[in-house]
Amino acid sequence: MSQRMVVVGSQWGDEGKGKITDYFATRADMVVRYQGGNNAGHTVMFDGNKYSLQSIPSGIFNPATVNVMGNGMVVNPESVVAELQKLHDRGITDYKLFISNRAAMVMPWHIMLDGAYERRKGDAQIGTTQKGIGPAYSDKYSRTGLRIGDLLEPDYFRERLEAALDVKNIELKSLGLEPLDVEEVYNRYMELARQIGPMITDTSDLINEALESDAKVLFEGAQGMMLCIDHGTYPFVTSSSPSAASVPVGAGIAPKWIDTVVGVAKAYCTRVGAGPFPTEIDGELAHEIRERGHEYGTVTGRPRRVGWLDAVVARYTSRLAGITQWAIMLLDVLSGLDKIKICVAYDLDGKEITTPPSTIATLARCKPVYIELDGWKEDISGIRDFDRLPENAKAYIRKIEELTKTPVGMISVGPDRSQTIIVDPALNRF
Ligand code: GDP
Ligand code: IMO
Ligand code: MG
Repeated sequence: MSQRMVVVGSQWGDEGKGKITDYFATRADMVVRYQGGNNAGHTVMFDGNKYSLQSIPSGIFNPATVNVMGNGMVVNPESVVAELQKLHDRGITDYKLFISNRAAMVMPWHIMLDGAYERRKGDAQIGTTQKGIGPAYSDKYSRTGLRIGDLLEPDYFRERLEAALDVKNIELKSLGLEPLDVEEVYNRYMELARQIGPMITDTSDLINEALESDAKVLFEGAQGMMLCIDHGTYPFVTSSSPSAASVPVGAGIAPKWIDTVVGVAKAYCTRVGAGPFPTEIDGELAHEIRERGHEYGTVTGRPRRVGWLDAVVARYTSRLAGITQWAIMLLDVLSGLDKIKICVAYDLDGKEITTPPSTIATLARCKPVYIELDGWKEDISGIRDFDRLPENAKAYIRKIEELTKTPVGMISVGPDRSQTIIVDPALNRF
């Protein structure tokens, strides 16, 4: 079994990546976030405590694990400081955390513009987390952005800030927003630099050193493949690619290091924010699943939309992200249902298709084609052994494997670290 494992979201985010990362982080030497920012909300539960992390890696609870915020992230220093404060307040003070000097930095105008762009979209709003993620990645790729390492060179930082605000203030004013004062932003970021400065380093170097010495390195994806900027339901997506394919660039390592990719999938589907969701259900059943799964956004508190498992999506994302094993999450939430549906194809104008179309206009015309399986009544949250699951739960898992041509490596039957069933013993060797 590999010493390197990627944890990837395979649906629309909130699949349980935080739980899975934390599960393996207890034995990982290093945990690395490689994309996204504080739009993520990763929940970790152990010993009766529940934590929510936004941009900080989920290995932060193990004092021996080195946590890295990689260059592919967009990092808001304000949020890092606030998150660390929250952890300190709860007694988490013994940790190792490093931030890439090459990571794009979220600036105050990114957050303002995220809000303004959304408001102007009216009914076509994406429903972003309003953390400035899209505008920050846009600035990175238009080469006008600032990077975390700039904070360590105050004169250079000021130069970049002045050049950026020269243009951004025109845009802010044109959108009816208050322009920003160079001095104020400069002073605030220099204050933040004093707090996070010691954590800023060349993290690619750090990760490569770890890999070369055969350390156990875990890469923690954020969001999910259907929110991928390239392969998701564009434009209702985030601004990065959560794929395992992003790990080499977003962490600064060679592709040869990646072999095991755990695809995290709920036993059903959820989506928070707007955009197409072919297997969405509503009414009493959706309400029941939402309440049982506590399906409310970790970052924004918004109720999550709920639907059946979509095997079209699962097959697509397994292939794209190179998923070697599934982690099937929240299986306990389905207990008690008479029948459980799985979408196996889409009906597009009378023709069955088995991969998602590229435009949301066409996707909106797709109707899910379902198969129906018998449910189970038993409470499974205390089960730790696959063989002890009810027969129908086992059949459901086997059906997922068959439909997606990807084996199930582990199953989660509750939010706590301990509520985990390892199906593939090889995973225990990480
Ligand atoms: P992430 O963004 O992928 O890390 O997922 P979130 O933390 O945003 O959302 C997953 C939610 O499901 C959290 O509230 C978890 O505590 C919870 N959760 C994770 N695994 C299970 C499970 O197996 N059963 C139940 N009932 N809840 C789970
Ligand atoms: P984790 O890592 C669920 C969604 C937002 C919105 C769209 C774009 O917890 O799974 P953004 O702020 O990124 O520009 O928003 O993407 N979104 C998420 N949904 N889980 C997430 O992260 C998400 N991160 C972004 O709701 O629809
Ligand atoms: Mg989440």
